[in-house]
Amino acid sequence: MRDDSQASTSIWMATATTPSQSRLKESIRTDVCIIGAGIAGLSTAYLLGREGRSVVVLDDGLIGGGMTGRTTAHLTNAFDDRYVEMEKIHGAEESRLIAESHTAAIDKVSEIVTSEKIDCAFEWLDGFLFAQTPDDLQLLHDELAAAHRAGLVVEKVSRAPIESFDTGVALRFPRQAQFHPLTYLAGLTRAMMRDGGRMFGETHATKIEGGSPARIETSHGPVVTSDVVVVATNTPVNDRVAIHTKQAPYVTYVIGIHAPKGSVTRALYWDTGDPYHYVRLQSVNDHDVLIVGGEDHKTGQANDGHERYGRLEQWTRERFPQAGEVQFRWSGQVMEPVDGVAFIGRNPLDDDNVYIATGDSGQGMTHGTIAGMLLTDLIQDRKNRWEDLYSPSRVRVKSLPEYASENINVAGQYADYVTAGDLKSESEIRPGEGAIIREGVSKLAVHRDEAGAVHKLSAVCPHMGCIVAWNSTERTWDCPCHGSRFSAEGKVYQGPANSDLSAAE
Ligand SMILES: Cc1cc2nc3c(=O)[nH]c(=O)nc-3n(C[C@H](O)[C@H](O)[C@H](O)COP(=O)(O)OP(=O)(O)OC[C@H]3O[C@@H](n4cnc5c(N)ncnc54)[C@H](O)[C@@H]3O)c2cc1C
Ligand code: FES
Repeated sequence: MRDDSQASTSIWMATATTPSQSRLKESIRTDVCIIGAGIAGLSTAYLLGREGRSVVVLDDGLIGGGMTGRTTAHLTNAFDDRYVEMEKIHGAEESRLIAESHTAAIDKVSEIVTSEKIDCAFEWLDGFLFAQTPDDLQLLHDELAAAHRAGLVVEKVSRAPIESFDTGVALRFPRQAQFHPLTYLAGLTRAMMRDGGRMFGETHATKIEGGSPARIETSHGPVVTSDVVVVATNTPVNDRVAIHTKQAPYVTYVIGIHAPKGSVTRALYWDTGDPYHYVRLQSVNDHDVLIVGGEDHKTGQANDGHERYGRLEQWTRERFPQAGEVQFRWSGQVMEPVDGVAFIGRNPLDDDNVYIATGDSGQGMTHGTIAGMLLTDLIQDRKNRWEDLYSPSRVRVKSLPEYASENINVAGQYADYVTAGDLKSESEIRPGEGAIIREGVSKLAVHRDEAGAVHKLSAVCPHMGCIVAWNSTERTWDCPCHGSRFSAEGKVYQGPANSDLSAAE
C-alpha cells in the first residue's frame, strides 16, 4: 500500500507528486465508507459524490500508492482473456456485456476528464493485437469473429503500424485510450472533495464489519460508521476465503525505455503470448518512453526478476532498434480471476451493505471504472445489467478446471512447512537481501539490511498460514498462496492479509 514498500519506482511515481492526506483523527459517520484510494475506490467515491452521497475514503498509503501507481494504464476493450474464451465460459450475451462495459468505462473516463478538466494526458488511440508466433494466427481469426459477435468494431489489418518490425496480421481495435493514472486520480480526488467527500491517508482499516451501521476500525483508534462500506483494496482484506479461491495473484514486470520522439507510432500494442507483452508510449520532455510489460509469474513462486527485466529489454531491442537507455524498471501484482472477469458487487457470505471490487486481471483501469459505475447503481438501488456478470458470488461451471488447477497449486505451497530453508544460515545472506531459514520446526523470514543488521520475522503469512518467499527485485516478502505482500521489515502492503508478519519467536 505504501509506495515505498517496493524498491522500484514507476514512471508515474517519478513524474507526478501526490499530496499527502492527513490521517483520520476522530470517529466519524458517513453514508458510504470506501477503503482504498486506487482507481476502483476513487471512481466509486467520485460517482457517488456526484449523486449527493456523503463519502469518506480511507487509505493507509498515498493516493494511487497501490497498483494504480504501478499500472501501464492502457484503457482497452480488447479483452486480455479473449472474447473467444469469454463466450465459452460465460456465454454469448455475457461476452457482449463484457465488451459493452469496458467500452462504457473508457467513455466514462473520457467524460470525467473533459467535465472535470483533468490534465492527465488522456489520449484516444488505436490498439493492435498481433500473433506472437504463426501458430497464433488462428487465434486472431477466432478472436476477430468473437469480438464482432460481442458487438465491437474491430478489423483485421496486414500489420500493426510499427515500422521497425513486421508484426504480421493484426487486429485493430479503434477508440482505445491511455492516460497518466496518478494525475487522473489526483483530478478525481479534487472533484470528489469539492462535492463534499473526505479523504484520509495513513489510515489503515484494521476491522471491517457490515450491519446497521457498518463499522470500520482504524489503526490509530477512530472508527468510521456508515450505511454502506466498499472494500476497494485491490484484493479484499475483509474476506478470508470465498474470493481468494476464485482468483490467483501474478507479478508482472515493466520497463520504460528511451525512444526518440515520434519514432514509434502512438498506439497500444499487445501480442498473443502467454504471458503476453503490452506496449505503449508516454511523452516525457523531449523524448518518448516506450513502456513494455510482460514476463508474468505466479506471485512468490519465482525470484528471478532481474532476468525477466533482461528478457523484456531484449524483446524490445529486437523489435525497436531505436530504443535507447532503460529509464524505468518496476513490477506489480495483478489478480487473475479463474473465469477472466472481475468481481464487483456484494461481498459473498457477508452483510448486504458490504461491497467489494477485485479480480481486475490486467484490466484494472476499465474494471476499476466499471466498479465505480456498477457499485454506484447498486448502492443507489438502481438496476444495472452488468450486475450478474460481475457478481462476486457467481460460479461458472466451465471455469472449474482453472479453479481446480489454481487451488491445487495453492495446496502445494503448504509443503513449504517441511522443506529446508533457502539457505542454511543467516550468515549467508548478503546486505539488502532476504532468505527463508529453518530454525527447528519454524521457518523464519530473515532480512539483512544495507548496514548489515539482521531482522528476523516469522515466515508464516497471517492470512492463511502459507510460507512467504523473498522477492529480490522489490525487496518484499511475497506469499505464494493468495498474494499478500510485506515490506522487508514485515509491514503488510497488499492483502488479503491485513496485518504484518509477526516477530520471530
Ligand atoms: C505492472 C502492471 C501493469 C498493469 N497494466 C494495466 C493496464 O495497462 N491497463 C489496465 O487496465 N490495468 C493494468 N494493470 C492493472 C491495474 O493497474 C490494477 O488492476 C488497478 O490499478 C487496481 O486498482 P485498485 O483500485 O483495485 O487497487 P489499488 O490501486 O491497489 O488500490 C488499493 C488501495 O487500497 C489501499 N489499502 C489496502 N488495504 C488497506 C487497508 N486495510 N486500509 C486502508 N487502505 C488499504 C492501498 O494502499 C491501495 O492504495 C496493471 C497492473 C500492473 C501491476
Ligand atoms: S495470502 Fe493467503 S496465506 Fe498468504
